[in-house]
Amino acid sequence: MPLPRIFGRGKTDAPPTSQDDDRSSAESDAAEREADLETEPETAAHTTWRERAERIIPTGASTGSKRAASLYGDADADLPTHFASARGAVLTDTDGTEYLDCTMALGAVALGYREPRVTEAVVQAATQGNVSALSSWREVELAERLHAIIPCAERVLFMKTGAEAAAAAVRLARTYTAREQVIACGYFGWHDWCSDSAGVPASVRRTVDWVPFDEIGALDLAAAAAASSLAAIVLEPVIEHLPSVEWLQRAREICDAVGAALIFDELKTGFRVAPGGYQDVCGVTPDLAVFGKALANGYPLAAVVGRDALMSVASETWISSTLASESTALAAALAVLDWHEEADICATLAETGREMRAAVDRAIAASGVGGVSTEGIDQMWLMRWRDPALESFFVAEAARNGVLFKRGAYNFAAIAHDESALRDIEAAASAALVAVREHS
Ligand SMILES: Cc1ncc(COP(=O)(O)O)c(C=O)c1O
Repeated sequence: MPLPRIFGRGKTDAPPTSQDDDRSSAESDAAEREADLETEPETAAHTTWRERAERIIPTGASTGSKRAASLYGDADADLPTHFASARGAVLTDTDGTEYLDCTMALGAVALGYREPRVTEAVVQAATQGNVSALSSWREVELAERLHAIIPCAERVLFMKTGAEAAAAAVRLARTYTAREQVIACGYFGWHDWCSDSAGVPASVRRTVDWVPFDEIGALDLAAAAAASSLAAIVLEPVIEHLPSVEWLQRAREICDAVGAALIFDELKTGFRVAPGGYQDVCGVTPDLAVFGKALANGYPLAAVVGRDALMSVASETWISSTLASESTALAAALAVLDWHEEADICATLAETGREMRAAVDRAIAASGVGGVSTEGIDQMWLMRWRDPALESFFVAEAARNGVLFKRGAYNFAAIAHDESALRDIEAAASAALVAVREHS
């Protein structure tokens, strides 16, 4: 799959690779299909996998958004929960049925599943020995390349997950300032410092003051309350909408005035809105930032980056993980960066997302169904339904028509969403909306 969406569209055409040779492409396709067959799970109805998962995995799925109830809501239907293989923007479930995926693994994948160059890099890293007593050279290489791309990245530290990276950034800010209080806006994963869930000590919860997105007044009030105990303001710079630049500037001013750290969580915006994240677009540079998801196109990698002074206190606290520098995810990220150097991946994601939304908007208009619209930014957009029950009904119907939309959260554009994918998206959305109209 040589990323057809960017041929002729990016800064430069995609480079000639062995995949461009028809013969070798056909051969590698055949080899991949053979590999799929060898590793396919025993054929079973979706419900069997769902039932087995629900018996052994306490929540049914280790990733919250992949639980059956998260995928389909109350839709009590025989809908897929487990996949056998994925390629481009298409996954094949355990029953052998193909689905076009608009969710792209919660935005972890922006090129496409099983992108050949990424896969080749990962396989090469694995066959060379994934880990050893020593660090991989790829850790240094990738850190240097991120330093050249991300405005605030004077230093770089790798983790495996977004939640870990966000927790590490907050730990660095607290260590640097010797303060505890944090002002936050966004989603940062499941760790204690940012969670309101059962099991989190009340004393930890009290250290975070949550503020609404893009409201300067609320930010000012929270800053006044924290006063000189403020360690950090942690923001997701884009939540459904682009923020006003004044909001981000105000956060910067507050941090500068009281000596706190400004942290941007660029898990979703990094290598999607721009390679260097939203900080490269808005012109407000944070002290620390975290990246992940599209950075390694589906392999587990996150990065904490930031100003030298703040990053350096990593040696005064303890932030470490056994597999933080394993080679496969680093190799995947290096291959992703190669793509970004050779083609304007982010511009293509924006254009593709615009076309995905337009396809769904046309389907909504043609159906006459009310109470639903598309929102968000083009690279990560969502369907907003007034009635959650109708949303679940829609998502289930669309799945029955071969397209997986995200319920209650973002759909992510990928380079692999080509013209035929766009047609499938419009057709499935139309069919599902007609079913909604007849149902309601
Ligand atoms: C902005 C942001 N930060 C942090 C996280 C947590 O990342 P992970 O699920 O990899 O721990 C997410 C996950 O969706 C996210 O979107």
